[in-house]
Amino acid sequence: MSEPTLPDALRNELGRYNQLHLLTFWDSLSTSEKHQLLEQLQHIDFAMMHRLTTGSDYAPDWAQLAAKAQAPPAIRWNDTQARITPVAARQAGEEALRSGRVAMILAAGGQGTRLGFDHPKGLFPIAPLSERTLFEMHVDRLRAVGKKYGVKIPMLIMTSPATDQETREFFLRHNNLGLSPQELTIFCQGSMPAVDATNGKILLAGKSEIALSPDGHGGLLAALNRHSLLKQAAHQGIDYFFYAQVDNPLVPAADAELMGYHILARSEMTTQVVQKRFALEKVGNVVSIDGKVQIIEYSDLPSQFAEQTNPDGTLKLWAGNIAVHVFDVAFLRRVSEHADALPFHRAKKPVPHVAADGQSIQPVTPNAIKFERFIFDLLPLAEQAIAVEGDAREVFAPVKNANGAPTDTPAATQAALITLHSEWLKSAGCTIAPGVKVEIHPAWALDATEVQRRVEKPLLISSDTYFA
Ligand code: UTP
Repeated sequence: MSEPTLPDALRNELGRYNQLHLLTFWDSLSTSEKHQLLEQLQHIDFAMMHRLTTGSDYAPDWAQLAAKAQAPPAIRWNDTQARITPVAARQAGEEALRSGRVAMILAAGGQGTRLGFDHPKGLFPIAPLSERTLFEMHVDRLRAVGKKYGVKIPMLIMTSPATDQETREFFLRHNNLGLSPQELTIFCQGSMPAVDATNGKILLAGKSEIALSPDGHGGLLAALNRHSLLKQAAHQGIDYFFYAQVDNPLVPAADAELMGYHILARSEMTTQVVQKRFALEKVGNVVSIDGKVQIIEYSDLPSQFAEQTNPDGTLKLWAGNIAVHVFDVAFLRRVSEHADALPFHRAKKPVPHVAADGQSIQPVTPNAIKFERFIFDLLPLAEQAIAVEGDAREVFAPVKNANGAPTDTPAATQAALITLHSEWLKSAGCTIAPGVKVEIHPAWALDATEVQRRVEKPLLISSDTYFA
């Protein structure tokens, strides 16, 4: 490998944007380290970083927007007046599934810092009895749905530089979890540099390494484009993507009814929501502002607006985001023509780095700003977008925090899975002894109706049982 020379244009650009400190250790680097740093530097859009750090970019006035926020157009759970009935929705969704027009996207690029698991979150064993991993839970379900409708539903898994290699190795080691090569696509999202919160300077993770982190689940749009996956979808006759995130094993993958509401309402982007349990619950708020559906993060929604109620006492802004969406592929193609369709959000985080004197710094309090795009920022770009209410007990139990935290822990997710599967069995007349755990593999039954078909005579379940 020959010694790389630093292009003058790059050095000038670093100077122009006050980032010359990134070359502090250049002369002391080995040839391969120089190549590594150069490669990273050449992928950074310094003009954009400058815009982001000088704050002349995305900074909505949330209080002003929140004052105009209304409940979103929605299909409510148990709404007997709904203009699209559940039966009609299910039929339309099933037709789309049977004709092979649906694929699933699973976002699995996050660093999972809160969980404190030293591998991609998809490798976390979550199923209460079988100990299947998050990846297995999603793939098993999708395969069972495919089998039900006599099709192979493609699974597209988005990784990031933080999770890509281990994810690929995991799938290789486990025979792609039963998916054929044509059914599985693993693709990597991009990254963004973290900057010093006090002066906007990009941080070095090592002397020859920029501090990079995944560019947010909204990095999906650019990644789909970069890997030509929208074209691939068109060639395969895929019209709809069912999108979910790896950390929620309750997601009803490629759910026919949700797909059907999307199709019959001619929505370009549909988002599944759950009723917020209380006004200040820490979930994104799905709202409508000036006729456009969008999400206001709980941290951006002033409490006086979050606490507004309807005359019947229910919350006015009731719809909580659970990060389950359906996209028209044509919509993604349209918006992907504008590379900057999605804004960057800033988050202050502790980021380890190397200081100018070569010392490694391990901050415990936030010292840096990370930039992330959010997938739900696509909502207001849709000509037509709707929310569809789901029952949180059936669709949402994300793994975010390590056991011991108050919410969203593996223990809480397992409890939610056991409760849901117990309810399905009870609806088939079974009795479950107190404290007994049950788990149902999706190939055995996908929902309560299928459990009722499976159970020929009511069972008394007196010890932990895995129905597979
Ligand atoms: P979170 O924002 O909860 O992040 O992402 P996380 O990685 O799971 O956990 P923390 O915040 O570091 O503790 C929600 C979902 O979006 C995916 C994650 O994999 C997770 O399933 N995601 C997040 C991406 O695919 N890419 C990203 O850049 C960020």
